[in-house]
Amino acid sequence: LTVTWEPVGTGSGGAAAIVGALMTSEGRADPFPLYAKAHELGPVSVITGGPHLVCGYAAVNQVLRDPGFGPMERPLEDPDRAVGGPPSMGRSILWANPPDHGRMRSLISQVFTARRVTALRPAIEDAVDALLDELAETGAGGRSVDFMERFAFPLPVTVICEMLGVPAADRHRFRSPAADLTEALELPALASSPGAPGAPDADGPVGAAARELAGYFAHLIRERRAAPRGDLVSALVAARDADDGRLSDEELLANLILLLVAGFETTTGLLGNGLAILLDRPDVLTGLRSGAIDVTGFVEEVLRYDSPVQVTTRVARADGLTVGGLPIPKGGDVILLIGAANRDPARYPDPDRFDPARPDNRPLSFGAGPHICLGNGLARLEAAIAFPRLLARFPEISAIPDAPRTRRDRLVLRGHETLPVRLLPGR
Ligand code: HEM
Repeated sequence: LTVTWEPVGTGSGGAAAIVGALMTSEGRADPFPLYAKAHELGPVSVITGGPHLVCGYAAVNQVLRDPGFGPMERPLEDPDRAVGGPPSMGRSILWANPPDHGRMRSLISQVFTARRVTALRPAIEDAVDALLDELAETGAGGRSVDFMERFAFPLPVTVICEMLGVPAADRHRFRSPAADLTEALELPALASSPGAPGAPDADGPVGAAARELAGYFAHLIRERRAAPRGDLVSALVAARDADDGRLSDEELLANLILLLVAGFETTTGLLGNGLAILLDRPDVLTGLRSGAIDVTGFVEEVLRYDSPVQVTTRVARADGLTVGGLPIPKGGDVILLIGAANRDPARYPDPDRFDPARPDNRPLSFGAGPHICLGNGLARLEAAIAFPRLLARFPEISAIPDAPRTRRDRLVLRGHETLPVRLLPGR
């Protein structure tokens, strides 16, 4: 993927300039005005010598559902390292095409079931309440608390580790490698642009994180193979060891790493983005607390308005594909602006307004089609449990004007680095 980069504020305002602007820190901090410009150009734009840029809701939805398009590339794919090297998420379902994708997806969905997710409700409630107890302690006397560090990050970690069967004592080890590994999810072309973090490198922090997590899970797989439990690692090991051998060793490891990492920063982002809205909109906070605003509608609108995943990519795997009437040649790359699709004025009236009562609200934040997020039920459940309990416990939670919140400097995964709050009324 190559994008002709144009400096912000110059040029014709065409698709390349918009992509260029999205690569800057300012663009990453607030991509929404750039999305509005993209909509003015139309649902699909061509970048000369580069990818197509897709921002329209219908067009993004179509590409995601069309099996003619597949994931763009596997991060950290290096044939020299295939044996004995660091297996990364590149071998997981997220980057797989048919028939591998269908084989792995059906296997994993057999163990990652709606029943298993629903059964987690009491464990999620306990995890939320335990974190709220800790918050109360840290924020006693009106002290500032970082919601990201103390709640938005630990909750999803605890929940996915519970589901996978990762012992509680090991959970603190994942924050840094998981954060490093999500770098592999940023767009390669964007990552190599001026001012952006460097492209993932197998010898850099991303590779080191992949090796660390692979080492950890290899150990856990050995333990569960020797003594299976009712957890997801044991279930996937059993699938790997079944007579028909439908999952390779590499795939088992890659999918375990994906399950761990995919649920971390995304759900953390959802919790932080949702709280930031509540802090800015006391009317929404009051409505949610009193039950006048339905929590499901609130969570869907947070997903739409400030999606934790803003962008994904595809490549045309067949001849004769078209999007929005434009032909995409086989091998052509496509950038899908999920965050822009969610604010498409043709799909959502008054798209920049946060409205938890929007009818027919179906944001594309979890993707769509064959690769639709496997964890969407889990992420929605965590958020639907967390927000009402948080507000019931701390009805006066508020932002701290002199300790401003900071955003992570990322485009694909959108969330906060810090979100300082006061839990009690200011004195
Ligand atoms: C796939 C978003 C939470 C596991 C995806 C995709 C998106 C997404 C957009 C599709 C990517 C594409 O098609 O290019 C999110 C968001 C989350 C979230 C916004 C939280 C708010 C989770 C959780 C898990 C999870 C909690 C599980 C622990 C996965 C997996 C895939 C996936 C395994 C790959 C599915 C496939 O390729 O068939 N997610 N996700 N996600 N997600 Fe999530």
